[in-house]
Amino acid sequence: MSTLPPYEESLNLFHDWTKTESLRKHAYAVEAAMAAYAEYFGEDELLWRTTGLLHDMDYEKHPTAEEHPFIGTALLTDLGYPDEIIQAILGHATYSGVARTTRLAKALFAVDELAGFITAVAYVRPTRLAGMTPRSVKKKLKDKQFAAAVSRDDIALGVQELAVDLDEHISRVIGGMQKDASRLGFEQPA
Ligand SMILES: [Fe+2]
Repeated sequence: MSTLPPYEESLNLFHDWTKTESLRKHAYAVEAAMAAYAEYFGEDELLWRTTGLLHDMDYEKHPTAEEHPFIGTALLTDLGYPDEIIQAILGHATYSGVARTTRLAKALFAVDELAGFITAVAYVRPTRLAGMTPRSVKKKLKDKQFAAAVSRDDIALGVQELAVDLDEHISRVIGGMQKDASRLGFEQPA
């Protein structure tokens, strides 16, 4: 029988495993994007936030494809986290062999790379996340030199799987991140 722990418990677990500030902020950004999608789809916000928060939990200690996200999901299974979360986290690693069958899994994969990309775009804008448009993000996506490590193919695949419009997807992820801006290390718009 699995139950979803309270948010603070997941946050403590995440902090125990992840000390690097940039990795923490990445998880918060993905969490914020998942919250925006939970609201959009009318899904359980805590479940979706928790999935975003914990999706790279083991990455700092176990970054290889042999171990990430398998060490983390094994622990989450032992701790009794819902299987839907475990499957979504496994599915976000394209090499895991676990298909993304639920909306939760598809959303996690769709927002993961994009949240990282939007963070990179925010860093080169004087107003950071404030006033960011899908148009400016798409322009940067076309510039292959910019944030070259972010897979444009994964972003396109995520949008396709989740069956959402690219502009709406980008603006939803920006919107979620704007709501949690101070936590992501960005100033709240005045
Ligand atoms: Fe991630």
